[in-house]
Amino acid sequence: MDRIAYINGEYVPENRARVSIFDRGFLFADAAYEVTAVIGGRLIDFPAHARRLSYSLGELRIDPPASEPDLLSIHRSLVEHNGVEEGSVYMQVSRGAADRSFLYSDISDSTVIAFTQEKRIVDHPAVARGAHVTLTDDLRWGRRDIKTVQLLYSSMARTQAAEAGYDDAWLTQDGVVTEATSSNAFIVTEGRLVTHPLDRHILPGITRSVVIELAVNTGLGVEERAFAVDEARRADEAFMTSSTTAVLPVVNIDDLSVGDGVPGPVTRELRRRYFERLTE
Ligand SMILES: Cc1ncc(COP(=O)(O)O)c(C=O)c1O
Repeated sequence: MDRIAYINGEYVPENRARVSIFDRGFLFADAAYEVTAVIGGRLIDFPAHARRLSYSLGELRIDPPASEPDLLSIHRSLVEHNGVEEGSVYMQVSRGAADRSFLYSDISDSTVIAFTQEKRIVDHPAVARGAHVTLTDDLRWGRRDIKTVQLLYSSMARTQAAEAGYDDAWLTQDGVVTEATSSNAFIVTEGRLVTHPLDRHILPGITRSVVIELAVNTGLGVEERAFAVDEARRADEAFMTSSTTAVLPVVNIDDLSVGDGVPGPVTRELRRRYFERLTE
């Protein structure tokens, strides 16, 4: 790979982008990030990603590294430099480098890095067959509303799911499904969409909010409430949402088919409308 990456104001070949061993992102996972999808060379929902980054940084008390227009121009430059048609831009802002200490010390310069990744989003390979997921205890920390780089438990759960032959894990806490390892979880039951409410247990997904709006606009009822594991197993349809998968059907939960065991009509329609809005 020979991408151009961004680091602290400079665009450099990826192997020349270097971060200090004292960077708190590296030592404490003291950093927030965003992943913005690129489809047809265009950034999708950038303002919402910029707002969420600002929220995450605010909660961590890290100063914003740049204005929203400047962050947008970094994203656009990377897409252009790397000729990305479909994929994503990853941006991470850490508190910066300082001698190792548990206190947030006085650090004036955050570390900002960004790079692109190519990925099939519109023709995502798992869409036609639908994803198989397993249920796993949600053992992440208690501030999942902040998009931090502290992703080890999610990575562990996803790896164990993949090793057991599943596409992903749906995380459960106190008998309810919170979300997936890197997506929000939805079910369709009695003709209504159900998804976990926004609180500290889940990430406020940008795709989640777009899909809720699309559903409301099409007259579909939406309930933002916790749903139990058993309700998920009995649902007519299930899917998960994220910037780089859009609306991904889930057809099987812990070896039991959801509905007919194929991507359902509501899920397929929401996926269609999700992409349709990009051409309007
Ligand atoms: C834990 C978690 N939930 C949900 C999402 C989906 O968020 P978005 O739709 O903004 O990509 C992500 C995305 O990375 C995530 O990591």
